[in-house]
Amino acid sequence: MSMKIFVTRKIPEPGLELLRKHFEVEVYPHDRVPSEEEIIKGLQGKDGLLCLLSDPIDKDIIHSEPRLKMIANYAVGYNNIDVKTATEKCIPVSNTPGVLTDTTAEMAWALLFSVSRRTVEGDKFTRNGNFKGWAPMLMLGQDVTNKTLGVIGAGRIGTAFAFKSKGFHMKVLYCDVNKNEILEKELDAKKVDFDKILEESDFLSLHVPLIQSTYHLIGEKELRKMKKNAILINTSRGSVVDEQSLVRALKEKWIFGAGLDVYENEPEIPIGLKSLENVVIQPHSASATFESRANMAIMAAENMLAGLHGEIPPNCVNPEIFEK
Ligand code: DGY
Repeated sequence: MSMKIFVTRKIPEPGLELLRKHFEVEVYPHDRVPSEEEIIKGLQGKDGLLCLLSDPIDKDIIHSEPRLKMIANYAVGYNNIDVKTATEKCIPVSNTPGVLTDTTAEMAWALLFSVSRRTVEGDKFTRNGNFKGWAPMLMLGQDVTNKTLGVIGAGRIGTAFAFKSKGFHMKVLYCDVNKNEILEKELDAKKVDFDKILEESDFLSLHVPLIQSTYHLIGEKELRKMKKNAILINTSRGSVVDEQSLVRALKEKWIFGAGLDVYENEPEIPIGLKSLENVVIQPHSASATFESRANMAIMAAENMLAGLHGEIPPNCVNPEIFEK
């Protein structure tokens, strides 16, 4: 009898096709986030769960199905999964690193440019018929070339983001627990402490995972340390920034602007943010290209295949269970 998988939302066909070759696949039929009850129901009698970053996979879900042997997340971030409980139950958990690195870094740059050159605001202004001719003080923004770029979290995505600054002759600063030899060698990037990166960056981009130590990493104290012309970019996780402080910082112009792809309580947008002109907001779509989403689907399916065949999934985030 073949093993059974529950997929919490329709994902690109190449991933589903691969899964269907090996397993009986049930896909949640609606185009919305399933409730906890719906996930538990869908998981009944299933061996594998393929879930999204918007599905909180908690203890109750993990304990609900005794057959559950593998959880494959369709995302690189996996803060939505109670990995500790999965590990206690010897259930491998996997993510999708690598395939969305450049795509996410590109979105961070898209946000950086749209905030610094006010392109969203300018588009709205022009469409609304407000453009009455060239004017010396119209839509002034911030130059990017020759400025200081700060990267908090110099892992895969942070590194790719920094590399894309090459044509803009920027001074690159980074803050990470580890030294990043490639950034230092190729971009002459400087590893600096947290205060220095806040104080010196013209553009500050966040690329850390959401863990206990990065929760509200950027709050009022940090925003007040930033330059008045600074732009904050967040494509990591919403909870890395204290959103209420950010709204105040943008309203009161402690910084020039912000570009956000992620929010603490998605899909809720923090109160007060939508009415501000100096922020560009996206619907958590940093990895949303045809190529990346298809590759993520294949990677999640390959992880599932390995996990259910008793092998270590190639992108296992709790490999210690195989050492037991
Ligand atoms: C991820 O995979 O964690 C990203 O946030 C998706 O956009």
